Amino acid sequence: MVPRSLLNLNTFRVDHSCRSISYTNSSNDLVDLAKTINKPIIVGGGSNILFVDDVDRDVIVINHEGIEVIKTTNKYVYIRVQAGTNWHQLVLWAIENDLGGIENLSLIPGKCGAAPMQNIGAYGVELKNVFVELECVKIGTGERWVLHKEDCLFGYRESIFKGELKDKVIIDNITLKLTTNSNHTLNRDYGIINDKLDDLKVKKPTIKDISDVIIDIRKSKLPDPKEYPNAGSFFKNPIISTVKLKSLKSTYKYIPSYVIDNDSVKVPAGWLIDKAGWKGKQINGVGTYKHQALVIVNHSARSGKEILEFSKLIQDDVLEKYGIKIEREVNVY
Ligand code: EPU
Repeated sequence: MVPRSLLNLNTFRVDHSCRSISYTNSSNDLVDLAKTINKPIIVGGGSNILFVDDVDRDVIVINHEGIEVIKTTNKYVYIRVQAGTNWHQLVLWAIENDLGGIENLSLIPGKCGAAPMQNIGAYGVELKNVFVELECVKIGTGERWVLHKEDCLFGYRESIFKGELKDKVIIDNITLKLTTNSNHTLNRDYGIINDKLDDLKVKKPTIKDISDVIIDIRKSKLPDPKEYPNAGSFFKNPIISTVKLKSLKSTYKYIPSYVIDNDSVKVPAGWLIDKAGWKGKQINGVGTYKHQALVIVNHSARSGKEILEFSKLIQDDVLEKYGIKIEREVNVY
């Protein structure tokens, strides 16, 4: 078998190879491939994946698309979305149809089948807020299986698909519950949304206004993968105890934090990395983004190994400086 290049299947644009690449054009294709391919690597948009070497495995690219309204009530519209649908196209579809719930998740790269894997989240909203259920296919047997919201064990950038079901199932479609405009409450909790709306003198924002503002914020902070190959946040924001926060505050008075519960807070890894002096720094063609230190950019590395090594230098330094272990958000193969 001739090795196939993964260059166009990952937004870090590293040039590793795999045994073979198959594409799904329908849900039936997915069942067939799940039955016949042993230990496949599943790729959606390739925007949260880092290949560190050539892989002796077969890759399945999820390409089957479609958005279907399956139920409407006075308040809600239930939609079933095929896994290969581009996430932002879905957001735009919801806005065009005046449906609320995912406008804060505008411009997140990737496809809908990957959204539950890490319970995508941004600007005060997570996928789990609108998620109803999903249908997946078991690798090996091709058997279909419906998992409801509670089964998915969603947490911050977490789900059962990163744990117990890792490499065991492939997501075929997801069902979401969107809210009709007149019943929808906009989520403006993230302070910067309100600041931007004020700047634009928008008094009564619409679903589309929120989306536009978020697109604007993301464009100003996050690098376009076409120009700066990257996979969004490379690390998760760590959760630390309030006791630990108090001790850090004696040295770092202005450290930002978000309350999780009485005993714990989340601190932005981007801030920790930035204040440790890593923002914009480059080593061997790999660096952090100049406007957001949480994003690692591949400027010229051909191998993912160099990206992984760079990320480990950051992890070690953050541990040494603050005594905090930061975990990767990106999936490494
Ligand atoms: N900050 C710095 N320096 C930096 C980056 C951030 O000081 O280089 C500070 C900011 O000033 C702010 C705080 O850290 O006080 C938080 O920054 P930001 O609002 O940019 O959000 P984040 O916590 O770094 C998370 C998500 C993003 C999501 C934003 C907005 C994670 C791992 N990342 O980033 O998600 O867009 O919040 O909700 O939770 C992604 O997952 O790929 C992603 C981009």
